[in-house]
Amino acid sequence: MVKLTGLKKIKTAVFISGTGSNLKNLIKFSKIKNSSISIDLIITNNSKAKGLRFSNQFNIKKNVSSFKDSKIAEAKILNLLKKENIDFICLAGFMKILSKNFIKKFNGKIINIHPSLLPKYKGLDTHIKAIQNKDKVAGCTVHFVTAKLDSGKIILQKKVKILKKDTPTSLAKKVLKQEYKLYPAAIKKIFN
Ligand code: GRF
Repeated sequence: MVKLTGLKKIKTAVFISGTGSNLKNLIKFSKIKNSSISIDLIITNNSKAKGLRFSNQFNIKKNVSSFKDSKIAEAKILNLLKKENIDFICLAGFMKILSKNFIKKFNGKIINIHPSLLPKYKGLDTHIKAIQNKDKVAGCTVHFVTAKLDSGKIILQKKVKILKKDTPTSLAKKVLKQEYKLYPAAIKKIFN
């Protein structure tokens, strides 16, 4: 694992595909004086990702790489990560699955946030599944990324109560609120 040395912050890239509210939250966290990371690069597969606006707003480099050919996209991204001396990757709503080869190159240095209490509900539609199954609790998980989807070592989890009146949308909102606390806490747990 990368360790924090002295006052130098760990150069981090955040991968997104959509809204990027976790990205914005991580940028805010990175600007706190004692934060262990700096966000130096935003990567997306989606040129229309709303979260790309944070690149301009916070003056952070961005890269859009279509994953139509994922091999080419990953090779481009790996080059860029090297060029920018990126040492840590946070996936935040990134909707593409990274290859074994890519993950090997950043072994133990890629983490992800997932909107369920893993190992429950890997993959998509976690809130719909939790409500359909009449679960009493939902939540979110930050975990290390391995080649097996949503299966790497868990760093932190946070539970959220599901109320009778909850819909997938209301539950997603409640979980997202907790994600904003959990992701920075997980990063602190790794580096501090
Ligand atoms: C979050 O719920 C995250 O857990 C999941 O995708 C969503 C991304 O939201 N992986 P945002 O783009 O950070 O707003």
